[in-house]
Amino acid sequence: MTQKQYEDLRSARWFAPDDLRGFGHRSRMMQLGYAEEDFMGRPLIGVLSTWSELNTCHSHFPERVKDVKRGVLQAGGLAVEMPALSVDESYTKPTSMLYRNLLAMETEEIIRSHPLDGVVLMGGCDKTTPGLVMGALSAGVPMIYLPAGPMLRGNYAGKPLGSGSDAWKYWDERRAGTISDAEWSGIQGGIARSAGTCMTMGTAATMMAIAEAMGLTLPGASSIPAVDSEHQRMSARCGRRIVEMVWEDVTPDKIVTGAAMRNAATVAMATGCSTNAVVHLIAMARRAGIDLSLDDLDALGRTTPLVANVRPSGASGYLMEDFYYAGGLRALMKQMEALLDTSVVTVSGQSLGETLEGARVYNEDVIRPLSNPVYKEGSLAILRGNLCPDGAVIKPAACDPRFHVHQGPALVFDSYPEMKAAVEDEELDITPDHVLVLRNAGPQGGPGFPEWGMLPIPKALIKRGHRDMLRISDARMSGTSYGACILHVAPESHIGGPLALLKTGDRVRLDLPNRRLDMLVDEEELARRRAAWTPPEPRFQRGYGHLFTGHVTQADKGCDFDFLETAFGPAVGEPDIF
Ligand code: FES
Repeated sequence: MTQKQYEDLRSARWFAPDDLRGFGHRSRMMQLGYAEEDFMGRPLIGVLSTWSELNTCHSHFPERVKDVKRGVLQAGGLAVEMPALSVDESYTKPTSMLYRNLLAMETEEIIRSHPLDGVVLMGGCDKTTPGLVMGALSAGVPMIYLPAGPMLRGNYAGKPLGSGSDAWKYWDERRAGTISDAEWSGIQGGIARSAGTCMTMGTAATMMAIAEAMGLTLPGASSIPAVDSEHQRMSARCGRRIVEMVWEDVTPDKIVTGAAMRNAATVAMATGCSTNAVVHLIAMARRAGIDLSLDDLDALGRTTPLVANVRPSGASGYLMEDFYYAGGLRALMKQMEALLDTSVVTVSGQSLGETLEGARVYNEDVIRPLSNPVYKEGSLAILRGNLCPDGAVIKPAACDPRFHVHQGPALVFDSYPEMKAAVEDEELDITPDHVLVLRNAGPQGGPGFPEWGMLPIPKALIKRGHRDMLRISDARMSGTSYGACILHVAPESHIGGPLALLKTGDRVRLDLPNRRLDMLVDEEELARRRAAWTPPEPRFQRGYGHLFTGHVTQADKGCDFDFLETAFGPAVGEPDIF
């Protein structure tokens, strides 16, 4: 193991030289109230917190930053809080996904431009995990990810409520007129009861689990509820460990290997895998120079049993709090050790196998044995066909099995407002066999790849008792969503993908066992339509949006910017001028 000396540290380049620059850097630290012995001879740790007063999932971060700093100090380092873009899921419009790459860029550049020797990354709300990790992978300094942890389970009238899933469910009931205003209001007040991320196994919980399975968190960190005192203790542990990692030179390229990414994808499948994880897994892998494709994920989806019986998967209604009490992610990974490469190294300094020693499942209904999974396979499937030559994603386990092989007429919408008006029309001429289609909702068309993919069931069908139907879009959907929704159609319609050529009334066929999605329109007719298609105006003429639409890659490539998706570069290109 490498043991660094102070003069090897990045921060020493700022603080140690006896020259005018060094004088300036030291004097400004002293302006902050630090004596030389406070910041010289020890690692400087950046605590990158994605806190804001509008990020409800991270409202405990100001306290946790103090805990991390306590740990850093105990281990002989100095910690400084460095705020990073909060990217909250609830309020960021048009969609938080538009800003994941901005957070990744900011993370990388905060690290690159400051005298930081290591970082603790604090995130959890959906895009913050991949955004922070992507940026820190590119920066290359030692890092630990500290997940925000899930909020407490929701509650209304003595019944548990799950983030997202119950919002969709009760919204449909409200549209059907089966619940009262008072009940709706009670659900609104009870569905989010504490700090922390959504407490279903949605995108946030999936991504935090993925970070742990990649080896980027301390053991068990991803499952701890945000308001549990263990979360405070974990925060301090992260602070202590990052200082050791700096001295030991444990850089992320030693952690994030092909085997680690494969472990992460396998664990994602076992947890039910938010469809968003597909995009983020690929983006993170590409930042590390690892080739992880949609086909790799489809293969894992076919062979990995879904063992986390946590909503939106399974019918038992368990939530992340139950998952933690059942043993959390360590127990789940122990349970499926045979499917993982446990020799990989984690930020703890131990191999994954060593970190799982002693882990056990306390409730085999919440974390199922491999021999009794929630589903034998089917967390995720990748489709191809003349509608999606570069792929599309579906969660077979989350949809009514009668749609696994289905053919029906398309009802196509070009925009979200058009679709929204139609689904509220009680006289809409539609059958349960119809296939609802929304286009112009991809990375460029949305813009930003919004979570519109769980298209609402038309009121005309809801009133007749229907709760699922086949839906197709080039959008994403929330990890807490469910139903027969085909997502991430690539290439997207806005740039002329085949979805742009589909017309209302065309027949569409899904053959899930054979992973096919096709429009039953002959090639000559498609060629005519393609020749007549004209590209729409770009969504942005200026600003960050212009940068985004000019450089974002398609869903099958992870939607990173084309100029950022390179392998680990030289460890943090250092500023030349000191
Ligand atoms: Fe933050 Fe769901 S809104 S995780």
